[in-house]
Amino acid sequence: MSKTLVNTANNTRLQGKVAIITGGASGIGEATARLFADRGTAMVVIADIQDDLGRHVAESIGSDRCTYAHCDVTDEDQVKSTVESTVQNHGRLDIMFCNAGVGSRSDQNVLDLDFAAFDRLMAVNVRGVALCLKHAARVMVVRRVRGSIVCTGSVAAARGGRRWTDYHMAKHAVLGLVRSASLQLGEHGIRVNCVSPSGVATPLSCEANGVGAAELEKRYEAFSSLKGIVLKTRHVADAVLFLACDESEFVTGHNLEVHGGFVQA
Ligand SMILES: NC(=O)c1ccc[n+]([C@@H]2O[C@H](COP(=O)([O-])OP(=O)(O)OC[C@H]3O[C@@H](n4cnc5c(N)ncnc54)[C@H](O)[C@@H]3O)[C@@H](O)[C@H]2O)c1
Repeated sequence: MSKTLVNTANNTRLQGKVAIITGGASGIGEATARLFADRGTAMVVIADIQDDLGRHVAESIGSDRCTYAHCDVTDEDQVKSTVESTVQNHGRLDIMFCNAGVGSRSDQNVLDLDFAAFDRLMAVNVRGVALCLKHAARVMVVRRVRGSIVCTGSVAAARGGRRWTDYHMAKHAVLGLVRSASLQLGEHGIRVNCVSPSGVATPLSCEANGVGAAELEKRYEAFSSLKGIVLKTRHVADAVLFLACDESEFVTGHNLEVHGGFVQA
């Protein structure tokens, strides 16, 4: 029987691995935390700033498989200490999912870019991703772990937008970081990839669009050529799982788009 069939059947694709998921209290991060725990991780650490929600998600997954750590990804000390305490408490770090992000606060068209809002978004969506990648990679290198780092990009990482300029710029930067880091960390056996979804109904996208999940999913249908199916956080989590586990062990520097054949509406 092939390795894939054995692993899938036993739900052990991540057996024994320790993962940190930033932004794991909600949306794509939460779905990924649940899937990772289901696929045998020794421990998933949810790193977020929504303490009550993060703790609640961790408890609902089970304290033997998931824990919560307060971590503002814009703060280097907090990121470093989350990575270090994960290694101290759980013995290793194999997977870092740099996923925490925020949406644009307004249209942010070029002609009236608000740079205070721009700076806040960049601090989370670019600086935060780079900080998490840096500190995860440092412990992996020191401890000689052939780890997997996955960052959340977006279809906005490879296309321009009619609005949300800061968001598109930030996601392009994430892709630049992933491509550079994958070249630099390859000699240590560390893989770095990007998962890039199209629109999926989460608190971030509902707030950015000012509508509820059902209405947003209806709107998003127009953006994919694949019909009869709507993108759910679980589909994105499946792609992250692939990039995180050994089934993608020769894949690095890749931008895995999960967009059902994206067409700009
Ligand atoms: N929802 C979409 O349509 C969509 C599409 C493409 C990419 N993305 C990206 O997916 C990622 C996850 O977003 P989501 O849609 O699941 O939204 P979400 O709002 O459900 O989750 C984002 C999480 O990030 C956390 N977060 C925000 N700022 C943080 C900080 N400074 N430190 C730590 N955690 C912080 C939030 O508390 C929240 O739990 C983001 O990077 C987003 O840009 C989302």
